[in-house]
Amino acid sequence: MEFLCIFVNLVILASTQTVNPGLRLRITQDGLQYANKVAVDTFAKDIKRTRLEDITGNVKGVQYSLTNLIVNDLKAPTSTITLASGSDVEWRATKLGLEIDGTFKYIFLFIKGGGDFTVKASDLSFAVGIQIGVDTNGKPTIKTTSCDCKIGPLQIKFRGKRAWIYNILTSLASNAIATMLQKKVCEKVKDVLDKKAEEELCSFQAEVQLGEHLTLDYRLLSAPHITSEYIEGDFKGEVFWTMNRTEAPFAPSPMATITDNKKMVYLTVSDYIFKSMGYQAHAHGLLMYNLTSKKMRGDDDLLNTTCKDTCIGKLIPQIGQLYSNSQVEIHLQSTDWPRVFITEKAVQILSKSNVTFSARKPDNTLHFMFRIHAVTMASAKIKLNGDALSGTIDYMKVETNVTNSLIGNIDEATFQLLVDDAVKKVIKPMINDYLKDVGIKLPSTDNLQFKDAKIELLTNTILVETNVKITPNIKKKKSTVLKYKPMVGRQDI
Ligand SMILES: *[C@@H]1O[C@H](CO)[C@@H](O)[C@H](O)[C@H]1NC(C)=O
Ligand SMILES: *[C@@H]1O[C@H](CO)[C@@H](O)[C@H](O)[C@H]1NC(C)=O
Ligand SMILES: *[C@@H]1O[C@H](CO)[C@@H](O)[C@H](O)[C@H]1NC(C)=O
Ligand SMILES: *[C@@H]1O[C@H](CO)[C@@H](O)[C@H](O)[C@H]1NC(C)=O
Ligand SMILES: *[C@@H]1O[C@H](CO)[C@@H](O)[C@H](O)[C@H]1NC(C)=O
Repeated sequence: MEFLCIFVNLVILASTQTVNPGLRLRITQDGLQYANKVAVDTFAKDIKRTRLEDITGNVKGVQYSLTNLIVNDLKAPTSTITLASGSDVEWRATKLGLEIDGTFKYIFLFIKGGGDFTVKASDLSFAVGIQIGVDTNGKPTIKTTSCDCKIGPLQIKFRGKRAWIYNILTSLASNAIATMLQKKVCEKVKDVLDKKAEEELCSFQAEVQLGEHLTLDYRLLSAPHITSEYIEGDFKGEVFWTMNRTEAPFAPSPMATITDNKKMVYLTVSDYIFKSMGYQAHAHGLLMYNLTSKKMRGDDDLLNTTCKDTCIGKLIPQIGQLYSNSQVEIHLQSTDWPRVFITEKAVQILSKSNVTFSARKPDNTLHFMFRIHAVTMASAKIKLNGDALSGTIDYMKVETNVTNSLIGNIDEATFQLLVDDAVKKVIKPMINDYLKDVGIKLPSTDNLQFKDAKIELLTNTILVETNVKITPNIKKKKSTVLKYKPMVGRQDI
């Protein structure tokens, strides 16, 4: 039943119309036709070797039974998925060919006999209506609403002795087999769509843990929006503090609209996801960082107060004079939640923090020296790394004001130069090095890969447009709609 998973996964990923979602996913006709192709191939494989029900009957004194009916060969149907045509989704297949082998027995008066037979159906067609909705937990639902199966003439060949009885049987069996097949095909399709889809949907998680403390909520906000060209789903896309689901005090702004339908899948990611993440991380004190010489890969002498050439004790002479043979520790704490602005040109981040400079003396005591107010402006390049969105900082500027100094007057201009140099040589590379391993994985499943993916920046929105490649039959396809590696609160940069 792999077919189902593929179909359902695509449907799950699609869905709509409420007040400004944080995440919107559109699956276009092209995407559905591709899913249909894969689904039908898989369905064909699935129905092959299926055992059908025995048929028994008694007509004009002939008692007969058809047993061991097995579908031995199958010609995949021509099929299409049509959107918004009566049902939300209609799955229509024609020219499905089946070859069934079985054994037969009959009793007529005192004559008994049997043998084996083959049935060929070359013109089976079915149309299934499917309704897509959402349950109260924000999980998508899928339900077949109708199934109509038609069957053309059957060719039946009995192999055995008394031909006249087989000829009678041919017309009798033909109707019985046709009726049984019609029922069976619809049963199978419904079973696949209703039962297996249900199972698959049960494993749909409407939220995902981001690191240790945050949760990304991507429950479906309403039933998918279906037009003749696409299925579109609106997901909440808000980051919460896991232990306290209080909403951020701001709402998502409208996302830019998707205007074309050439690719299979369009995913729009609102800046709201990043804003709510920044808000919660700041509100709960996650945006803090201690920089010590141990964390300064390669440059571990820079924070020394005493040195021959270049270290902080030389650059700010008071430090060297007051705390010789010590090491400076820098403690960073956000003072406001970081703002994220997405425009067609760039992703920009503005953050404010207090940065405290202390000296760790050889006796291990820590001495406060001064604090700065820092405003950091950065712009990020967003790219697709496999199927995860990741970023690198391509511009960063930190402006500082020194406050609360216990070591006398610090020359602001000199200090700013020092900061500029540190940002360029140490801080930006360090952040980018960290970001290499961090990303938000886009909705996907293990048997779904992105192809020809492209990222575009729009107002308040990151648009990912992509084709997909489905590799069915991969074992254990857990629906991992968003994978995440922690982005905030990590202390071991
Ligand atoms: C959750 O957070 C809100 C706002 O920050 C606060 O008012 C409320 O008391 C918190 N609730 C709990 C149970 O901590
Ligand atoms: C960071 O350093 C401060 C002192 O400046 C200390 O109070 C705090 O516990 C440290 N935090 C971590 C996570 O090491
Ligand atoms: C910096 O300090 C550490 C620890 O006190 C010391 O091992 C190292 O030699 C110092 N570096 C320089 C250049 O003085
Ligand atoms: C930042 O520093 C100022 C003093 O310079 C202080 O009043 C404020 O409480 C600090 N904020 C945080 C979040 O530490
Ligand atoms: C530094 O102080 C000036 C003047 O008070 C102010 O305009 C500026 O915004 C401050 N910068 C930071 C980074 O706090």
